[in-house]
Amino acid sequence: MRSVREPVVEVLLDSDWAASGLVQDVRRGLGAVPRSLPPKWLYDDRGSALFDEITRLPEYYPTERERTILRDHAADIARTSGATTIVELGSGTSDKTRTLLDAFTATGQLRTFVPVDVSEATLREATAQISTRYPGVQVEALVGDFTLHLGHLPRGGRRMVAFLGGTIGNLYVEERAAFLGALADSLEPGDSLLLGTDLVKSADRLIAAYDDSHGVTAEFVANSLRVVNRELGADFNLGAFSYVPFWDPHEERMDLRLRAEMPQHVSIPGASLEIDLAAGEEIRIEISSKFRPEGIRSELAAVGFRVVETWTDDADDYALTLAIREHLPHQR
Ligand code: SAH
Ligand code: AVI
Repeated sequence: MRSVREPVVEVLLDSDWAASGLVQDVRRGLGAVPRSLPPKWLYDDRGSALFDEITRLPEYYPTERERTILRDHAADIARTSGATTIVELGSGTSDKTRTLLDAFTATGQLRTFVPVDVSEATLREATAQISTRYPGVQVEALVGDFTLHLGHLPRGGRRMVAFLGGTIGNLYVEERAAFLGALADSLEPGDSLLLGTDLVKSADRLIAAYDDSHGVTAEFVANSLRVVNRELGADFNLGAFSYVPFWDPHEERMDLRLRAEMPQHVSIPGASLEIDLAAGEEIRIEISSKFRPEGIRSELAAVGFRVVETWTDDADDYALTLAIREHLPHQR
């Protein structure tokens, strides 16, 4: 076994959430109509634990679908990518990723694992567990924002970036294009992207997955306002909101909102903001876009990734795509 250093956790985000951009996002998103908040603020310790609970709900099929695909194809992915470094964006607990780490360590090719997440406590815990389970792999975690910190990814060796869980669907279409372009720019020709995407399916199944009978998803979405109350001293009355998830067939995305059931004056002192919500007014907390294989292919091609393989589960619910960063024309 190669000798590796102790795991490293580099913190790129300010531990003070207000200073990390929450104030700006609250002013921009809640200070304007229609109101919204970026979903990255869902993931404090409680939000990360609630998401973990969501992944175990029977209605929330994406996690198990992706796990099955990973189990069936991890060895192909290791061989085709030839990667010696796996970077995982929005890694959370990296639970399913262990299937990949098992396959990449079985070939002896894996040297470094770089999980990247905004949720520091979850990332530290995952880092400790993974470095114990894979003592021959150097773990270099980054507490960071994958829309801001791609420039900090380690260089050298052959890299595969895993972006699992369908988290790319939580970005708006224009953010997605910017993110994929920045990711392609941060990689070298021959590096690869392993992208998990939830696929378009019947509205009934999607709504069941995002409006579970135990109310865990509703709690998860409402957690965003809890974060604003705690971090910025706001006085959102959580009991006065209801959870409104719906399928938008034109945009092909789930749209997850909180609706004020009565008029509310809300003070957000940490953002020097006072807002008046009308009865029935909604705050969009998250979108979750669903994809079609041809759309994934063309979005990736637009930024210089060539799809080498797309795997789906038996029900065609979910897709895992392996794409290689190509030489740009001027590099040939
Ligand atoms: N990849 C895991 C977790 C998905 S949940 C899975 O497949 O189950 C989404 C994860 O992305 C959370 O851990 C959240 O903290 C993280 N996240 C959300 N927005 C992020 C951002 N902008 N930068 C980095 N991590 C982010
Ligand atoms: C992390 N992300 C892919 C989840 C999703 O399905 O969009 C977040 C989530 N929101 C509600 N349920 C799960």
